[in-house]
Amino acid sequence: MFDFTSSFWGIFILVTTVLSIVAMFVLVGIFKGGKKVTSDRDEDTTGHIWDEDLKELNNPLPGWWLNLFYITLVFGVIYLILYPGLGSFKGVKKWTQVNQYEDEVKAASEKYDPLYEQFVNQDIAALADNPEAVKIGQRLYSAYCTTCHGSDAGGARGFPNLRDDDWLWGGDPNAIKTTIMNGRQGAMPAWKEMIEDEEIDQVTEYVISLGGRAHDSAMAQKGKNIFSQYCAVCHGVEGKGTPMMGAPNLTDDIWLYGGSKASIVETINGGRSGRMPPHKEFLGEARVHLLATYIYSLSKD
Ligand code: HEC
Ligand code: HEC
Repeated sequence: MFDFTSSFWGIFILVTTVLSIVAMFVLVGIFKGGKKVTSDRDEDTTGHIWDEDLKELNNPLPGWWLNLFYITLVFGVIYLILYPGLGSFKGVKKWTQVNQYEDEVKAASEKYDPLYEQFVNQDIAALADNPEAVKIGQRLYSAYCTTCHGSDAGGARGFPNLRDDDWLWGGDPNAIKTTIMNGRQGAMPAWKEMIEDEEIDQVTEYVISLGGRAHDSAMAQKGKNIFSQYCAVCHGVEGKGTPMMGAPNLTDDIWLYGGSKASIVETINGGRSGRMPPHKEFLGEARVHLLATYIYSLSKD
């Protein structure tokens, strides 16, 4: 790819490259050494003399050595004709990284797609008992999902655990497949500007009480009203979450962003917006189907 906006640099690169190659040919010609060794060796020396009479003979370079120089130079010229390298000239083969990548992807999909497609019409719940399908799903998982969800799918802060039976967006086979196909965008609003600090503390105390942990009941009681007013729309009246909105259950002891008092206050003050990227375009439905099978099989046992 040639990215300069003015043509000057293209021409500059072309001219310097061509001149350098010509100069190399000339230099090799000049320094290839003298004629074949004759009987009268004293005549042809480089002019260097050491220790009074030790002279350096101007012997020619060995033929194979000299030819290597020429071969590399000719190789360079052929290469620059076939491939991009001379400024904006694209090379007669019109090679680019992008089309090489696309060709490789095409070849790989011709080879592997049938392997994935044989499963795409089968029910995910049933497929989860098919060790071959689960194994392929697991391999796809290792290739595409571990950076965020961890190699054991155990998740990390902000990246949900996919092994447990707790789901932001629902854990039935279709919900999982939809999540992977289309991605998901969690949207927990920031409340700092909307409610008083004191009320944030109260609603935090209430959230802590939801999980049955030790809490200040007077504060939690006040927090309950705030919760009904601002939070129940998404998290549900009982705080059990709404999978349609990706709003987590706050009554269990599973936390996406941490369950300590400080973490909860931080979540409420600043909001959160976890994003699961879509994979439909990138991987295609057949692969996603197997990924969903693997994820479903994890939480099932
Ligand atoms: C760039 C990071 C990233 C990658 C890559 C990624 N995910 Fe996610 N995933 C997330 C985040 C963040 C969430 C949580 C979204 C939210 O907060 O609502 C999520 C949510 C999910 C969920 C929903 C969990 C629930 O509790 O409902 C599933 C299932 C899932 N991912 C599967 C996968 C699979 C399978 C792959 C590989 C194809 C994958 N993810 C790749 C970041 C990622
Ligand atoms: C518009 C819907 C919505 C409202 C209103 C809302 N939340 Fe949330 N909340 C969410 C979503 C969605 C998430 C998950 C964010 C993510 O996945 O990144 C979340 C996450 C959280 C978490 C983090 C849970 C964890 O596992 O780490 C807490 C705590 C929380 N909300 C408390 C509250 C409180 C308290 C209120 C009221 C003041 C509130 N939320 C109002 C949608 C909402």
